[in-house]
Amino acid sequence: MWRELLPLGRHPGSGGYRRYAWTGADAECRAWFAAQAERRGLRLDVDRNGNQWAWLGDPADGNAVVTGSHLDSVPDGGAFDGPLGVVSAFAALDELRRRGEKDGTRRRTRGQDPFPRPLGIVNFGDEEGARFGLACVGSRLTAGQLTRDRAHTLTDGDGITLPRAMEAAGHDPDAIGADPERLARIGAFVELHVEQGRVLDLSGDRVGIASAIWPHGRWRFDFRGEANHAGTTRLADRRDPMLPYAETVLAARREAELAGAVATFGKIAVEPNGVNAIPSLVRGWLDSRAADQTSLDTVVAGVEKAARDHAAAHGVDLDVVRESRTPVVDFDHALRDELARILGRERDDGQASARIPVLGTGAGHDAGILSASIPTAMLFVRNPTGVSHSPAEYAAEDDCLAGAGALADVLEGLVYG
Ligand code: GLV
Ligand code: MN
Ligand code: MN
Repeated sequence: MWRELLPLGRHPGSGGYRRYAWTGADAECRAWFAAQAERRGLRLDVDRNGNQWAWLGDPADGNAVVTGSHLDSVPDGGAFDGPLGVVSAFAALDELRRRGEKDGTRRRTRGQDPFPRPLGIVNFGDEEGARFGLACVGSRLTAGQLTRDRAHTLTDGDGITLPRAMEAAGHDPDAIGADPERLARIGAFVELHVEQGRVLDLSGDRVGIASAIWPHGRWRFDFRGEANHAGTTRLADRRDPMLPYAETVLAARREAELAGAVATFGKIAVEPNGVNAIPSLVRGWLDSRAADQTSLDTVVAGVEKAARDHAAAHGVDLDVVRESRTPVVDFDHALRDELARILGRERDDGQASARIPVLGTGAGHDAGILSASIPTAMLFVRNPTGVSHSPAEYAAEDDCLAGAGALADVLEGLVYG
């Protein structure tokens, strides 16, 4: 599976992935997903929001067990964030079927089709929000956390709107919206993901279970000044928006340190963007996350105050727009305990599994979005450097195999009870 997936959307210069929603690279990833489903005799179903589902059994029977993740990437992303969850989902199904073949003497043969509960593998669209600025668009739409009207206003850096991009990729943008009937048929969603930190590396564990996701959000800061000649405009006469922007970046760092939170300006747009022109506009996007909502609100309020003060001092206008806000996620305790019980259970080979670490994360996930509607859980696979959202993101093959094995155990445990 990796051999076929790895070249798709890979940028030859950076070695990272540029798999943005509704682009050619995205279409190639979707074709890969469809081929994997077909190879396994699964029924492919693309929902009204463009998410792909591969079904074994009929989801209309209800109480389905679903696993999967996303295939899109951040700019120059790594190979594992998203794809590891999708590849592991197919690998776990293969493993379940293999177990079924070995187990052929039992009356109700575990691992043989049909399973007692429908099993689904999902590829959620536009998880990273790299193109249209809002993360988890596919799952947010399905869960009713993003309206069709708001989604229709999303625009990429070239001025192409989400509906036009969807249309160009052959998807009907007027059909998008909440899909409660689909979610009502799912009894449990489990997303496996590469860890985006070093908790498992430090604890020496291959696999862990997610406890919570930090509340987080994205804010756009528009500093508007006056374009002018870089060589002839006296410093005293300038209204340079780059200056309050720079002060705001430093303030974000300070506020985050004070609150034990994180705050990042990772994307910036400058107009007119000329070396020898004072900018007329500096637009920066703040991504901030904290362990609790109060700390997050404190950081953002502090950054905004600094931005306003510095903008005023430089004669620059400022607009701050909150583009998204994702509240804290506390994953379903019953499902989390169930996963811990399944993974802690004595194995067929007589080896008892060790305690399974439970860890929180500052990264957003489709599982977090869906957790407001259905029981969801996550498994994390060790990342030896913790690096993510970078071409250097990595997970060792043995750890990936352990992750897929753990996912197979979880699916088997959930499907058979
Ligand atoms: C997605 O990976 C995010 O946390 O922004
Ligand atoms: Mn990511
Ligand atoms: Mn991800």
